Amino acid sequence: MQTETTDFIPVSSRRVVAALHEISGLTGLPRPSDEIGVIDALCQWIMAASDEEKAVAGLDLPVPPKVIHHVAGRYPIFYDFRNLDIVLTELVRAGAKIEGRFLDFGCSSGRSLAVLKRAFPDRLELFGVDPSGASINWLEQHIDGVTACQSSQSPPLGFADDFLDIVIAKSIWTHFSPPAAKAWFAEIGRCLKPGGHFFFSTHGPHDVASRILRDLPRPKYERYTGHPHWTRDEFLMAIIEGFRADGHFFAAFREIYHQSDLRGAAQPTTADWGLSFLLPGFVETLLPEGLSVVRHEAARTASRHDAYVVRKAA
Ligand SMILES: C[S@@+](CC[C@H](N)C(=O)[O-])C[C@H]1O[C@@H](n2cnc3c(N)ncnc32)[C@H](O)[C@@H]1O
Repeated sequence: MQTETTDFIPVSSRRVVAALHEISGLTGLPRPSDEIGVIDALCQWIMAASDEEKAVAGLDLPVPPKVIHHVAGRYPIFYDFRNLDIVLTELVRAGAKIEGRFLDFGCSSGRSLAVLKRAFPDRLELFGVDPSGASINWLEQHIDGVTACQSSQSPPLGFADDFLDIVIAKSIWTHFSPPAAKAWFAEIGRCLKPGGHFFFSTHGPHDVASRILRDLPRPKYERYTGHPHWTRDEFLMAIIEGFRADGHFFAAFREIYHQSDLRGAAQPTTADWGLSFLLPGFVETLLPEGLSVVRHEAARTASRHDAYVVRKAA
């Protein structure tokens, strides 16, 4: 059984490793020519490095407390090289150039922005938004060179029309209700430059299969609206019935308490935030005129989330 996606280019981690080789005195670094295994080697190097070495390397951010950083990682370090490189690979394969104004939508405490800043110090102007005020405050205090802003749970964003070259939203459309997904597609479309690219991930059919194969993760069914006593199989059947009916399934979180990231939002609501599954055909119905799918890869991140890149018409 395939448990993890390996077909991606180490777009950012390769650049970080190359930059580390320019610094004298750092030993035990991964070789810049290594493509396979470079991310594991880099993460292991950070874990073994002294505080002084990490500071010299510019990779010394700690993992924020759980109330601020709501995302798990494979290694106990802050920087998310692996998932970011999967995202960048999809963008590059869709024809995007990794340059210009780059927004991480739903950035949490900035684990992808921190890597982007280290890997592309001169090529990117970085922006991050998230409704969690605690995450945005931490980001502002720890990562300079990123313009961060606490966003609202509903559009709009504070950017001018046609302002951004690239937007990424990792594990965000996996949570939106269809009306919220549609409204935010329109807003991202407004903010993107003509010819700009937008990466987002969804739960699709492979996610259902992976939940059966691995029995992981086990959602806490009582946390979602409508079905307090679901079994796993009833839950998966409800998703499949939603796919059959019109291509989607959505169950909102019952309470803010069950969604720790939104506890830091201003006047939080769970009406449009929960667990969302979307078929590609349904995604198409949510996109505004002028945004079209240029790439769709099933089971891309952690072999579970589907990855999409859409482009705004030039
Ligand atoms: C699963 S985390 C993903 C974080 C980050 N993208 C990553 O992959 O590391 C979901 C994030 O979405 C944020 N979020 C919740 N509602 C949102 C909204 N309406 N717009 C943007 N982000 C939202 C949460 O605060 C949280 O930080």
